[in-house]
Amino acid sequence: MEIISGFSKLSKEEKMRWVLRQFADNPAQTEAEWKSFWHQDPDMQKLFDEFSENTLTNFYMPFGVIPNLLLNGELLCVPMVIEESSVVAAAGKAAKYWQSRGGFKAQVIDVKKVGQVHFLWKGEYNKLYCVFDELKEALLDQAAALTQNMRKRGGGILDLELVDMRHVLPDYYQIKATFDTCDSMGANFINSCLEQFAKTLQNWITANAMFDDSERDVTIVMCILSNYTPDCLVRVWVESPIEALTEIEGMSPQTFAFKFKTAVEIAKNDVFRATTHNKGIFNGIDAIILATGNDFRAVEACGHAYAARHGRYTSLTDCSIENGIFKFWIDIPMAVGTVGGLTALHPLAKKSLDMLGNPSAQKLMQIAATVGLAQNFAAVKSLTTTGIQKGHMKMHLLNILRTFEANDEEIKVAVEHFKTNVVSFNAVRELMEQIRQDKYIAE
Ligand code: MEV
Repeated sequence: MEIISGFSKLSKEEKMRWVLRQFADNPAQTEAEWKSFWHQDPDMQKLFDEFSENTLTNFYMPFGVIPNLLLNGELLCVPMVIEESSVVAAAGKAAKYWQSRGGFKAQVIDVKKVGQVHFLWKGEYNKLYCVFDELKEALLDQAAALTQNMRKRGGGILDLELVDMRHVLPDYYQIKATFDTCDSMGANFINSCLEQFAKTLQNWITANAMFDDSERDVTIVMCILSNYTPDCLVRVWVESPIEALTEIEGMSPQTFAFKFKTAVEIAKNDVFRATTHNKGIFNGIDAIILATGNDFRAVEACGHAYAARHGRYTSLTDCSIENGIFKFWIDIPMAVGTVGGLTALHPLAKKSLDMLGNPSAQKLMQIAATVGLAQNFAAVKSLTTTGIQKGHMKMHLLNILRTFEANDEEIKVAVEHFKTNVVSFNAVRELMEQIRQDKYIAE
C-alpha cells in the first residue's frame, strides 16, 4: 500500500479512487457497489458523510422493532438496530412473556453525570482545602454563562469537589464535578464547563494572596467528562409468583425458577460466564442506543465498569426467589440523551424517538435497560431450557440458505426439514443439492 498524506483533504471521488487503486480487484464494480449504497437524495448523503470523516459510502444495518413491550403499564414499540439474528426475536419473546405477567417496572434512581479536571500542584493541600468553598464560588460564577441555558431547563452543575489524589501520583489532584444535563447526554456541555473550571483554577490560584510564589504553578493535565456514571442509575425489574412461570418448554415453573436463579448466581460469580451474560444484555441495550442515535460505546464502557464496581467483574442482573415470588432485575448506569447530538440529526434516530413518543432521557434510560433485561431473560431462559442453538440455528438457517441463493419454495422445504434435523452448513448444502436434483429429474 502506498503512503498518502493529505487524504482527508481529497474530494470523496478522489478518496474512493485512491482506496480502489490500493485494494480492489475490480475497481469499477466495487465503486458501483459503494455508490449503490449512497442515499438517493444528495443532501441526505451529505448529511451522512458529515457525521464522520473520510466517508466513502454507507454501511447498512437492519432496523427492526419489538412490539408490545409493557413498561410501567405503557405499551411500547421499541426500535432496534442490530446485525445479529435472534436478538430482536428473543427480546420480542421476553416482552410477550412478561406482558401477561404484569410487564416490566422501571425506576430512575439518579441522574448525576461526572467530569474531572485533573491537575498537578505543588502547594500545601490544607491551604487549598480550607479555601475551596471560595474557589468553588469562583468556578461556578465564571461558568455561569455556559450553564445559563441548562439551568433554565432545570439542570446545571450539581457539585464541585476537591479530590486529593496524591496517593496515586505526586502533586495530583482533581476537581470532580457532578452535573444534571436534563435530556441531553451532555458531553459537550460538561467538557466546556471543565475547560472553564481549569482556567478559573489557574487564574484564581495565581491571583490569591494566600499562596506564595512556589505555589502559583498549576499544571492542568486534562479536562474530560467521565463515562463512568454510577449515579446516573436506572433499575428495571419483573416479578411473578413462581407458579405463574408457565409456558416453559418441558419444565415445571419451580424447576425453571431454580435453574434460572442458579444461572444468574453463576454469572455473578464466574467472570467467564458474567462476560457473556452481560454481552447478551448489551445485545439489547446497544440496539436501542444505536437506533436512537446515542453513544453505545459510552453506555457499554459505563456498564462494564459498573459490573466491576466491587473490584470483581460480575453480572449486571440479579435474581431472587423469596416467599414464592420470582424477581429478576437489573441496575445499570446509563448516560443517554433525547435532545442534541445525533438524536436531532440522524433522520432514523429521530423516527425512533418519535416511535417511543419522544421520551425524556430518564424514560429512554428505563426503556433501554428494559430491553437489556428482556434480552437477558430470553437468553438465560433458552440456556436453561432448550439450549441456545435451537433458536439461533433457526435464524442461522435462513442466513445459510441465503448463501445458496435459495428461492421461497426451497426455503419452505428447508425450514420444514430442519424442524426435525440438526442445522449445519453441510446439512443445508446437502439438502439444497437434493432439492435441486429432485427438481431437475422431475422436469
Ligand atoms: C449471544 O449474542 C448472547 C448470548 O450468548 C448471551 C448469554 O449467553 O447470556 C446468548
